Amino acid sequence: MIIKEYVKYKKEVLKDEVSKMIKKPHLTIVQLNEDAASNAYVKGKIKDASELGIEAELIKLDVTTSQEELLEVIDRLNKDNNVDGFIVQMPLPKGIDEETIKLAISPNKDVDGFHPLSSLNPCTPQGIMNYLHHENIPLLGKNAVVLGRSNIVGKPMAKLLLKESCNVTVLHSKTTFEDMYRYIENADIIVVAIGKMHFLDNRFKYKPSAVIVDVGISRDENGLHGDAVPDLPVALQTPVPGGVGLLTRLALMENLLTITR
Ligand code: GUN
Repeated sequence: MIIKEYVKYKKEVLKDEVSKMIKKPHLTIVQLNEDAASNAYVKGKIKDASELGIEAELIKLDVTTSQEELLEVIDRLNKDNNVDGFIVQMPLPKGIDEETIKLAISPNKDVDGFHPLSSLNPCTPQGIMNYLHHENIPLLGKNAVVLGRSNIVGKPMAKLLLKESCNVTVLHSKTTFEDMYRYIENADIIVVAIGKMHFLDNRFKYKPSAVIVDVGISRDENGLHGDAVPDLPVALQTPVPGGVGLLTRLALMENLLTITR
């Protein structure tokens, strides 16, 4: 099933669940940056929430907000009984330590799954795994290559694939082209999250049965583009736009409902 249809179907199921709840779940989003990708994500998250009957509130703070001020907002949200879950949109402005912020959010309200004690997983990797399962993509004993080692995507993605008994290799900006070529040639699943437009292209050779999951979003005068050129000769490739971004947003709504169940 293409991602758009899959997400539409899943949202109907969640909407039905929310309609039966006496107290509607409440999601708060804290945003400090003015990054175009973040604005698009936040707008999408609020739209999804309202479609599902979830209360969503955006707390927009100035980009000059200090770490101490942000920690005070987090402390207030941790204690607010009306707030079921909240997220602080990444990336954070310079001068604010990402790890300190992630650890300050109560694991009971951390719908991003960033806290080490959170029972939830980060939304992008979780959303991707849910979709791979739905599409019955074989994982056990398969060669999975993760391109990129970010804390939000690459590292947790590798962990989830490993949990499904994939042979996981994480490649990154210091990997040589020759090594990358060798790993990609043998890969059954490729998750690309390096933020370089159309990095995966016909310079590489792919297994015809391979699955490419494209996490990249780059914008130019022609619109949004992924980290892979469209229509590579593989069995399944997720599109950009209309791909992983939708899966991430869906996973956030699912994480929120998991917390409120
Ligand atoms: N920025 C990009 N992706 C995410 C995400 O999943 N959560 C948060 N908080 N920020 C992000």
